[in-house]
Amino acid sequence: MCHRRPVRIFVTGATGLVGENVARDLAARGHEIIAATRATFTLEAPSIPDAVDGVVHCAAITSVAACEADPVRAVALNVHATAWLAREAAQRRIPLVFTSTDLVFDGSRAPYAEDAEPCPPTHYGRTKVDAERAVLDTDERHSVLRLALVVGARRGQPGGFLEWLVRGLRERTPTPLYVNQRRTPLFVGDVAPIAEAALAGRLRGTHHLASGESLSREAIGRAVARAFDLDDEAIVATVLEREARFAPIDDCALDTRKLRALGFAFTPLDRALTQIASP
Ligand SMILES: NC(=O)c1ccc[n+]([C@@H]2O[C@H](COP(=O)([O-])OP(=O)(O)OC[C@H]3O[C@@H](n4cnc5c(N)ncnc54)[C@H](OP(=O)(O)O)[C@@H]3O)[C@@H](O)[C@H]2O)c1
Repeated sequence: MCHRRPVRIFVTGATGLVGENVARDLAARGHEIIAATRATFTLEAPSIPDAVDGVVHCAAITSVAACEADPVRAVALNVHATAWLAREAAQRRIPLVFTSTDLVFDGSRAPYAEDAEPCPPTHYGRTKVDAERAVLDTDERHSVLRLALVVGARRGQPGGFLEWLVRGLRERTPTPLYVNQRRTPLFVGDVAPIAEAALAGRLRGTHHLASGESLSREAIGRAVARAFDLDDEAIVATVLEREARFAPIDDCALDTRKLRALGFAFTPLDRALTQIASP
């Protein structure tokens, strides 16, 4: 595929935070999008429509707790379905871009470059590592984008963790945010141009997508309060205990030098939040 030539792209998980935005942004960049909903696509019995030129795979069980609660289902939907899609795409000689996560790392050795060895402490993270391997082992056209904690809007409202956070701040519900868990939040609008480059064969292998700022959950919460003009008194600075049910993931900062060297830029958190708060 040539870069920027309009092509038909199949986006799975297009009702989710990442998929909705990637589908819309790729359409705005001139591509024809086939956006998967549950009515047309399930991870239980995956399929790729006819005559598509590439796949962006965003459908997954994304809840860490849901993966811990039903690990067999998590493997079936996050790993086996992804492997099937990768094989099917390879047979059709079309590229597949797989959306993975910073949670493939345990947070003890940040920042992580692409060649750092994954060491996920959660079942969710393990399913994503296994899916990454299946994708990359299947076809050299396929690629993996590891996303940091994503900030963005879904259906016009704050999406993902922002949905919970903004609601808590608006309703002044005590909102515990960890002071010892750090992330490099990624603006969802930064994903589509990179997915487009991967589909066009300009990126091979694995790439890390994240802003340059490593912030605690608490600092992210206060930035959200500022951007949405909300009182931050509901934020309860909390220490994530080592014996927490799911192993703590202290600092999963992703090193993005590889993509930045290719000319891609990442939106700072404050600018991203302002855009989400006042679209
Ligand atoms: N959000 C983040 O902070 C973040 C960070 C790192 C990586 N990622 C990765 O980015 C990708 C997208 O994440 P997201 O935040 O957009 O997740 P999301 O908002 O939870 O959306 C998940 C999508 O998957 C679909 N889905 C779930 N189970 C399905 C099934 N059995 N069959 C078909 N579709 C199913 C959902 O459909 P319904 O709407 O019908 O449920 C939804 O469209 C995932 O691969 C995730 O691992 C996300």
